[in-house]
Amino acid sequence: LDNGVARTPPMGWNSWNTFGCNINETLIRQMADAIVSSGMRDLGYQYVVVDDCWFNPNRDSAGNLQGDPSRFPSGMKSLGDYLHARGLKFGIYQGPLDKTCAQYFNSYPGATGSLGHEAQDARQFAAWGVDYLKYDWCSPSGSISEQVTTFAKMRDALAATGRPIVYSINPNSIHAKTGPQRNWGDVANLWRTTEDITNAWDTGQSNGYPMGIQNIVNVTVPLASYAAPGRFNDPDMLEVGRGGMNDTEMRSHFALWAMLASPLIAGNDIRSQNAATATILKNQQLIAINQDTLGLQATQVSNDGTRRVLAKRLANGDVAVALFNQGGSTTTISTTAAAAGKSGSSFTLRDAWTNTTSTTTGAISATVPAHGTVVYRVSGGGTTTPPTGSTFVSAASGR
Ligand code: GLA
Repeated sequence: LDNGVARTPPMGWNSWNTFGCNINETLIRQMADAIVSSGMRDLGYQYVVVDDCWFNPNRDSAGNLQGDPSRFPSGMKSLGDYLHARGLKFGIYQGPLDKTCAQYFNSYPGATGSLGHEAQDARQFAAWGVDYLKYDWCSPSGSISEQVTTFAKMRDALAATGRPIVYSINPNSIHAKTGPQRNWGDVANLWRTTEDITNAWDTGQSNGYPMGIQNIVNVTVPLASYAAPGRFNDPDMLEVGRGGMNDTEMRSHFALWAMLASPLIAGNDIRSQNAATATILKNQQLIAINQDTLGLQATQVSNDGTRRVLAKRLANGDVAVALFNQGGSTTTISTTAAAAGKSGSSFTLRDAWTNTTSTTTGAISATVPAHGTVVYRVSGGGTTTPPTGSTFVSAASGR
């Protein structure tokens, strides 16, 4: 969506993965402070997104949305002001139908979705200083065309406010896994590609609830051609620092999200994150690859089922190459600079995890532990071409 924002994938934090509905203004303010004091804000983690359950289950007498008076007693505008004063941006969650997902699934009270209130709610969000809207379809029904029409209403309502607001949609909450079926870049800045992520490597799902890291990668890699500045596939929020995976798997998760030009939205408790988690989330090499101004998603160079190689072309002519071990034991993964889209006979490889460099005449290879991902930034050589053997899908409609 060409609305001036999300020219690179948004970075930030979201309350859902760790806290679910147990949120309040003190928690959000503490998290904002931790994002600043941990150094994450200065590395790009900007958007603080308050997910489901922030609202009063009843609209006011004029039909306006309001924050939950007991958990957000200072009001939503005040929370936005708090974030803005710290150089952060304010994100909020809402549903396009009558209910949010918590209202639909968890008997959370009320039915305060935006259906029929799109313009009013967009104006309310803008008045509160909202910079990012997560808009989550939660219904077993709704054809793709119905979803397009409904999501477009809020797109247009946000535009009419004149405030630049990142528009992040989840078109595939229940049953109809529509994320991969359409290029949503005409409707939104970000669109979820799968069912909800969980803190597990592999749940055995192809696109059902809940999704592990490997499962989400499988769905999202083929959608590479959809990504561009202002429009990115969203493989869901990060599970780094949430347990359920070993450090190799968590590093892999972050490296792959960086390569996939995914939004980097942390989902852990930043206040108490350990050193290993902080080191992963603050990896400057990977953040630079993710935030590259070309806005390209890595394309697939090769995949033999165990050894998967992805390449992401970067604005300065470098190419980031990921060597991803999908298997259960250590293996050597190899490709070449030519296969990754580089011409020439002399290259420098910078390892994104060790930040050490080596030189090569073309071979790119590493010993990679089970579920690990080694990422090299390949520089030198001649002009780049798109990786050969890439998986491209064409837009189903809407471009
Ligand atoms: C859906 C979304 C999640 C989260 C919850 C909130 O499941 O996919 O990311 O926003 O709703 O209820």
